[in-house]
Amino acid sequence: MPRAHAKEWQLDRDRLAGLLEQEERRFVDEHPESRRLFEQGEKALLAGVPMPWMTEWAGPFPVFAASAEGARFTDVDGNEYVDLCLGDTGAMTGHSPPPTVSAVAERAGRGITLMLPTEDASWVAAELGRRFGLPRWQFALTATDANRFALRLARAITGRPKVLVYAWCYHGTVDESFAIDVEGETGSRPDNIGPPVEPAVTTRAVEWNDIPALERALEPRDVACVLAEPAMTNAGIVLPDDGYHDALRELTREHGTLLIIDETHTFCAGPGGYTAASGLDPDLLTIGKAIAGGIPAAAYGMTEEVSERIDEYLDTLGTSDVGGIGGTLAGNALSLAAARATLEGVLTDEAFAHMIEMAERFEAGVNEVIASHAVPMNSVRLGCRVEYHFQASPPRNGSEAVAADDHVLGRFMHLHALNRGILLTPFHNMALMCPVTTEADIDRHTAAFEEAVGTLASLPSA
Ligand SMILES: Cc1ncc(COP(=O)(O)O)c(C=O)c1O
Repeated sequence: MPRAHAKEWQLDRDRLAGLLEQEERRFVDEHPESRRLFEQGEKALLAGVPMPWMTEWAGPFPVFAASAEGARFTDVDGNEYVDLCLGDTGAMTGHSPPPTVSAVAERAGRGITLMLPTEDASWVAAELGRRFGLPRWQFALTATDANRFALRLARAITGRPKVLVYAWCYHGTVDESFAIDVEGETGSRPDNIGPPVEPAVTTRAVEWNDIPALERALEPRDVACVLAEPAMTNAGIVLPDDGYHDALRELTREHGTLLIIDETHTFCAGPGGYTAASGLDPDLLTIGKAIAGGIPAAAYGMTEEVSERIDEYLDTLGTSDVGGIGGTLAGNALSLAAARATLEGVLTDEAFAHMIEMAERFEAGVNEVIASHAVPMNSVRLGCRVEYHFQASPPRNGSEAVAADDHVLGRFMHLHALNRGILLTPFHNMALMCPVTTEADIDRHTAAFEEAVGTLASLPSA
């Protein structure tokens, strides 16, 4: 059950609504060209945007981007922003990093996709192996696909039907993962669009950090794999309790269940993600988004033992081209050239050291503001990613994080920041650093955050 700390901040809701309206008016005034493009888009696009979630940005319409470079972008009205969203991790490299751009331009002139391997494939696989500690790799175009393929393979080689995920996790549009824990039973997330089957058929969902619940869920020995972010990042950042990963690894081994670690977001913890930073030992690992600097590319790695079991399984099939693991463009020459250049020249050890330093500065700034106004908020940092929550103490699982969400307050904070030239990750209050984020970028956020929280703290309580 969520702890009873949700909505601790008893703000005067009418006054908050008034502040939000004020920010909306300013936004509309300062974005006439974005508005025109949005209205034009409404004639040909569903909801006026290329993807439905783009309607969920704070503000009556989304900002239309004109160009982006490094840690900044400019919109079609000429406003410049510090980008702390960074394409929700796809641009954790900074926008258009020069090594990736050069490699892409060079490779694009020599063949983009061939259905044949290129030398870059083995270079990237070896580098991922060095970073994440797993010897064998395969490629996909999106982290969603990497997860889908890992789940299929786990079911195939264990001969078990179910997967286990954490309530309120997000692993991309993977059908099996849209499950939550409803008083001990697995149910569908309320926002699950057209599920093929009830998630309870395919999935068991438990709360993060609940070891007895994990043990109960694995007990029937019908769970092929656990699919887990090593720290939750999609219901806000929810860190593992001390010892949780040891228990997870022990219990999965004890019950013959494979452990898949999804590093797509937690790559922010360091050059080898959370896995290397914390010495995890998964059976499979998935990653996407940033590994090719924003060019679509994803990968999944596995132990020698898992790879042998997969080889044996595939031998029994005799073919693997239409078996549910595929993608004509997966592993294409362009994606792999981009991934090689990104891993070799952009997301380096030195880059991570700088990114983490910037995140520490961001965290310190936010914490100082929270303390000075004595507001019930907290912040959590994971490597170069920081999140603030509207509750006095950090959540311990997905349900607690979701229960503490405050839609109107969040919208106000996002729009307030946007109007002062700062883009935060939508849907939650998350900031990500890239290799060229500067101290001045961070301080600009801290100043805006101080202004917003100061204004809110001066409102009378409800
Ligand atoms: C942890 C995690 N895994 C996988 C994905 C899916 O990535 P993509 O949408 O690029 O397929 C996401 C997307 O947010 C994610 O957060």
